Formats: sequence, C-alpha cells, structure tokens
Amino acid sequence: QLRTGSSILITVILPNLTNPFFSALVQSMQEYLEKSHFDNIDLTFQTSSFLKIDETIDNLIQRGTDGLIITEPLPNPIRTNDLLKRHHIPYVVLDRNSDYNLTDSVSTNEFEGGKLAAKYFQSLGHQHVGIITPNYTSPSINARIDGFLSLWSANSTDRPQKFITDFTKDGGREISPYIAQSDITGVFSLNDDVAIGLIRGLADQGVSVPQDLSIIGFDNIEYASYTVPSLTTIAQPVPEMGSKAISILIERLNNEQSDQASEFNSVIFENELIIRDST
Ligand code: RIB
Repeated sequence: QLRTGSSILITVILPNLTNPFFSALVQSMQEYLEKSHFDNIDLTFQTSSFLKIDETIDNLIQRGTDGLIITEPLPNPIRTNDLLKRHHIPYVVLDRNSDYNLTDSVSTNEFEGGKLAAKYFQSLGHQHVGIITPNYTSPSINARIDGFLSLWSANSTDRPQKFITDFTKDGGREISPYIAQSDITGVFSLNDDVAIGLIRGLADQGVSVPQDLSIIGFDNIEYASYTVPSLTTIAQPVPEMGSKAISILIERLNNEQSDQASEFNSVIFENELIIRDST
C-alpha cells in the first residue's frame, strides 16, 4: 500500500486517445491499480501535442500532480528533467527511448520490430516495398525505420520507397492514391491506425489487399483483427507496458529518495510478428 492517509494523483500524458494504442495503455494502468488494490491512487490523463508538451507539463505541475507517465517525445529532456526533479515529481517515459537516461523508461525493441517486418516481406518474395512514415517522427519511430532498412538492405539493393503522411487513419487514407499508383507490392505502416486508414482508402480505389498490395502494421491494436482483411502487424505488448510503467512510478513515489541515475529502470519488451490476412 502506498503512503497512508493521502491520495496520490498520477497523470499520463498522451498524444491522443483516438488511437486505441493509447487508450489501451491507460486501460492497462487502471486495471493494474484495481488488481493491486491501490485504492488511494487516482489516475488521470492529459492529451497534448508534441509541440505543446512543455506547456502541458508546466500546467500539470501547477495543478499539483504527484507523478507523471509521459508517452510523448520531449523536445528538451534535460530542462524537463530538471523542472520535475525540482518539484519532486517522479516520471516514467513510456513508449519512448529513454532520453539521455535521465529517468525510468519502458519501451519496446523498435529496431528489432522493424527488422521483423522487413524479414517477413522478404520471406514472401517481395522485391519493391515502401514505408509509410509520419510527418512528425521520433526516436522510437526512427528506430523502427532503421531496423526495417537495415534488414532490407542486407538482402536487397532495392531501396524502399518512403510515403510521408499524418500518423492517423485519415493519414493512411489520404496517402492511399499515391501508394496505389506506385509499383510496390508491400508496405510497412509504422502504426496500425495508419494501416487501417490505408486499407479503407485502397478499397475505395479497387486495390485488393493482399493480392495487389500487402500491408504490415505496428502495434497490434484490437481493431487489427477486425479489419477486412485482418491486419498483419508487429505487436507491442501494450498491457505489460502500461502496467510496468505504472508499477515503476508507484515504486518511485513510495521511495522518493531513490532517484539516483544508477538506479533507473530501463525496461525493453520484445515485439512479435502477428501474421494475418493483409500479407
Ligand atoms: O500508434 C501509435 C504509435 O505511436 C505506436 O506505435 C506507439 O509505439 C507510438 O510510437
């Protein structure tokens, strides 16, 4: 049981809740609290764009949060770290590579995840493939791209074609005409949300998946098994990520003196290829 007498407020900062990846993360944290009977911990969330994250954190400090879980890249990690340490607010960086090892972090092996996608395309005999990348990228997304390209180029001289779009379902739908007109036979979408928009956009244009184009997503959100065709994807262990992040933060809140750099947790989960019908 955490500290006695007072209640504790934990805030999760997320880019949005419309992508089920993020709502599933919050859900897993809530379930962890219930299962562990942390009845004196209140969990809340705040959405924030990457561009406004500093402002968001300043506001949360003023409003009196006790601990933070941050799922956005930090534009200025050292400044944020100093600020939060000054206010004795422990924080865990989730779904982001730890920036300069300043705090606890929970992430997945994004590089290996990217390699899994490239390897699977090659095992299916694809020779011309593409990657859909977001218009705002981050170290973790870059690691996915680097992993994909490293495995691909180790076995092929063909350069994957890049398609840049918004990191949303609409982004996937909007890029679909360009992908339909290209000569690629497979595309790696750096998240499932975009892949689902793409499946929809391609259907509107009469492109068959996987007969004309194979798609691999990333995340394994719940909807991935409900689309037509169902989505092959690189699964991140979302429930484990969420419960690990909150358990580490609770440990810190329980033991505020232990925030020495040498003791920081850096938990990295492995990703897994889930083969469905889009490839
Ligand atoms: O779908 C949202 C994506 O942004 C996920 O892949 C997650 O890992 C984050 O980087």
